[in-house]
Amino acid sequence: MTTLPPATQTVLGLETSCDETAAAVVRRHADGRVEVLSSVVGSQIAAHAPFGGVVPEIAARAHVESIQAIAEAALREADLGYGDLTGVAATAGPGLVGGVMVGLSFGKAVALARGLPLVAVNHLEGHAVSARLAADLPYPFLLLLVSGGHCQLLSVEGIGACRRLGSTIDDAAGEAFDKIAKALGLPYPGGPALERLAEGGDPAAYELPRMLLGRKDCDFSFSGLKTAAARLAEGATTPAQRRDLAAAVQAAIAGQLAERSDRAMKLYAAEHAGSGLRFVVAGGVAANGTVRARLQAAAAANGFAFAAPPLAYCTDNAAMIALAGAERLAAGLSDPLDAVARPRWPLDEVAAAAAPTHKAGRKGAKA
Ligand code: KG4
Ligand code: ZN
Repeated sequence: MTTLPPATQTVLGLETSCDETAAAVVRRHADGRVEVLSSVVGSQIAAHAPFGGVVPEIAARAHVESIQAIAEAALREADLGYGDLTGVAATAGPGLVGGVMVGLSFGKAVALARGLPLVAVNHLEGHAVSARLAADLPYPFLLLLVSGGHCQLLSVEGIGACRRLGSTIDDAAGEAFDKIAKALGLPYPGGPALERLAEGGDPAAYELPRMLLGRKDCDFSFSGLKTAAARLAEGATTPAQRRDLAAAVQAAIAGQLAERSDRAMKLYAAEHAGSGLRFVVAGGVAANGTVRARLQAAAAANGFAFAAPPLAYCTDNAAMIALAGAERLAAGLSDPLDAVARPRWPLDEVAAAAAPTHKAGRKGAKA
């Protein structure tokens, strides 16, 4: 006998795949309406900053120390107790596996103690639904997922139904931002610091390589840009030169994201004639104003409606994990209590298996 899931889902989401310990409570009503009842993000930036990047061992320990307090803060903020929940959703990968295990184990403990269904969420699926937290955004849509570990274009047909159109063949866009920022002597995390430095800079003052321009596929490449920018950074010593170089780097990354997305929009539109055309950008790099503006212009030129999550839901958070969990529960999907933590977990496993040459990154397979 199958039991139908409750009409309204109230889900505790847990996110511990990198350097943020996050918990959130999201309510998804039977009609699909979404309410974020709370979203708490405990950042570990201060703990990792002296090392210029995320140290996996420090991250895992910090997650252990704070996960319970952060989960309880999220419940308190939502004015709910564990007994009011209908499910628990925890990131199960991809990511730094020591951290992933912390959130997933905590989620399993809550599920076991309270007799609740568990959803082992793919972190990328969380980013994929993140724009649905704050806007009425129906499926299907074309998604550009750009974060520190991932850079890919996906056709999102529904929960758990993603098809990859393209991905990076070397670095992720956020990784390029972070590494170039480091070469410019900026603090970690580099993306936001580089965006601040670029303010008022002249992007035309430096010429940077335009990788893969005009190629017929939807793949990305940032390693040539990274190398060129790191070399130029050595000679950029005055404040004006540094500002200009930062602006040129930002424009080059935004330009490549827009050019590849433009290509994907044309392919996607040919396959989705008749359904409303929607383009969504998500992930930490979607917080960048120049990136958003270039993508918005590309969407408008191709007749796509444009959506991006509010800034708080671009970078890692647990509300997106709770929503992915709630959507899965509403579809009758949940996972066993022995679900495993996965350092690598491509969203589109078929495409990833077909393109094994794509490298793996800090937070799992970039492809
Ligand atoms: O989604 P996210 O929080 O974590 C991952 O899943 O990777 O993304 C973090 C990435 C970092 O590389 C960070 O530098 C970048 O997003 N990022 C930005 C900005 N804010 C965050 N990059 C450029 N401009 C920003 N404003
Ligand atoms: Zn992320």
